Amino acid sequence: MSDKKKATMIIDRDYRIGEIDDRMYGSFIEHLGRAVYGGIYEPDHPEADGRGFRRDVIELVKELRVPIVRYPGGNFVSGYNWEDGVGPGEDRPRRPDLAWRTIETNQFGTNEFVLWAEQVGAEVMMAVNLGSRGVDEARNFIEYCNHPGGTYFSDLRKAHGYASPHNIRTWCLGNEMDGPWQVGHKEAEEYGKLAREAAKVMRLVDPSIELVVCGSSNPLMRTYPEWEAAVLDKTYNYVDYISMHIYFQNNENDVGTFLANTLSVESYLNTVIAVCDYTKARKRANKTINISFDEWNVWYHSRGQDARIEPWSEAPPLLEDIYTFEDALLVGLMLITLLKHADRVKVACLAQLVNVIAPIMTVNGGGSWRQTIYYPFLHASLYGRGLALRPVIESPVYDNATYGDIPVLDAAAVWNEEKEELTLFAVNRDQTGPLDLKCDIRSFEGYTVLQHLVLEHEDIKAENTAENPNEVVPRQDGRVALESGRLQAELPRLSWNVIRLGKR
Ligand code: AHR
Repeated sequence: MSDKKKATMIIDRDYRIGEIDDRMYGSFIEHLGRAVYGGIYEPDHPEADGRGFRRDVIELVKELRVPIVRYPGGNFVSGYNWEDGVGPGEDRPRRPDLAWRTIETNQFGTNEFVLWAEQVGAEVMMAVNLGSRGVDEARNFIEYCNHPGGTYFSDLRKAHGYASPHNIRTWCLGNEMDGPWQVGHKEAEEYGKLAREAAKVMRLVDPSIELVVCGSSNPLMRTYPEWEAAVLDKTYNYVDYISMHIYFQNNENDVGTFLANTLSVESYLNTVIAVCDYTKARKRANKTINISFDEWNVWYHSRGQDARIEPWSEAPPLLEDIYTFEDALLVGLMLITLLKHADRVKVACLAQLVNVIAPIMTVNGGGSWRQTIYYPFLHASLYGRGLALRPVIESPVYDNATYGDIPVLDAAAVWNEEKEELTLFAVNRDQTGPLDLKCDIRSFEGYTVLQHLVLEHEDIKAENTAENPNEVVPRQDGRVALESGRLQAELPRLSWNVIRLGKR
């Protein structure tokens, strides 16, 4: 008899969580480090198109099918004047960016970003500055972007060469305003009032927009979750989403705890959702506030290098984490967690997209490559669209000092009814060996296995680099069999698995 660990799962077409909003697979470009300059925009690069956009980067972003990209920050937005980044390039001022203590040349701004987003097939998620600025800036900026014409700012946009409005649908009311590091940081009440008034005028200019109010910067903030309660108390009737952010680190080099971190995201989500619904009840409101998880990723590898960067440089290599295989597993686990909350998480942004804590890296003047974390994100974006189903999981556990019993298996299931495809995303957290998975999918009659993608590596610290970009890549030959509605698969030790089934 095999002594392999065993887990079971039931997936049924009737155990529905909810429709997955495509914006679950969003990302983020901030004016930070080499995200914009040297990342998506490098006019002197041999691959640059007529507008200075790197074609190689456009191709990689398109491969990821990112539906929405948040811009221009992040901390950057809280000291940003959008007016600096529009109009003729030679008239745009160089400014100190106080968030990252670099120089912002403003050669790339709103209109360039809108054009770039169009090229990659993504919507823009725009943030207004509620740090150093406020209501007046917010109304002018949305007038510039979304008003058809015949007013001062919409005509200015036309004079800048953009006859049609950009019609940006999703807007963030500032960024991480609870954070003392933020330019123009605010107390919850103060921010709540400002966000409400900004929301009001922005909707007066364009009633079709959707608005995201700032939640806490992370669940360890001293003011969490009172911040959410106080802010929603002021803004409930004016906004559509509240933001959540989280970054993971493994400074202690403890794989078991690192991979268990997504359990804390479960309680973070449950808490913020509870605050939203409590506020809904208190206000006798009909509408439900959903979640925009608009920053999430692993971030810690680059901290030491960043501390050595000279202030006031132009586009220095900031936050350039080189990701390991273990980071890819955590990204996979986070995607599974988000899918399990697809009924309430309507927008999520992997932070960020290029060079800055990113799945895509570039060399200035040189090539571009995919980090380890690129692959779970790619798989989820390609195959994780449709209806999220709730898997019933029975899994062995390992003991962890921080989180207690941790199931070695975590999994999500997505059914694309139209394409008649069912996809299972599963991570085996076990450090000791493979996991035998038995899964009952009897309600999916006539389905057969299309593919079992596996991302694994014997070295948990393996990385992809510019010199060796294919050290960690998925393989397609996972061990899986299906008979009479019962699926049996082997999930290798520490692995990300995508099992695709369909009617073909
Ligand atoms: O993504 C990097 C930074 O992390 C963002 O600027 C900020 O919002 C967060 O603290």
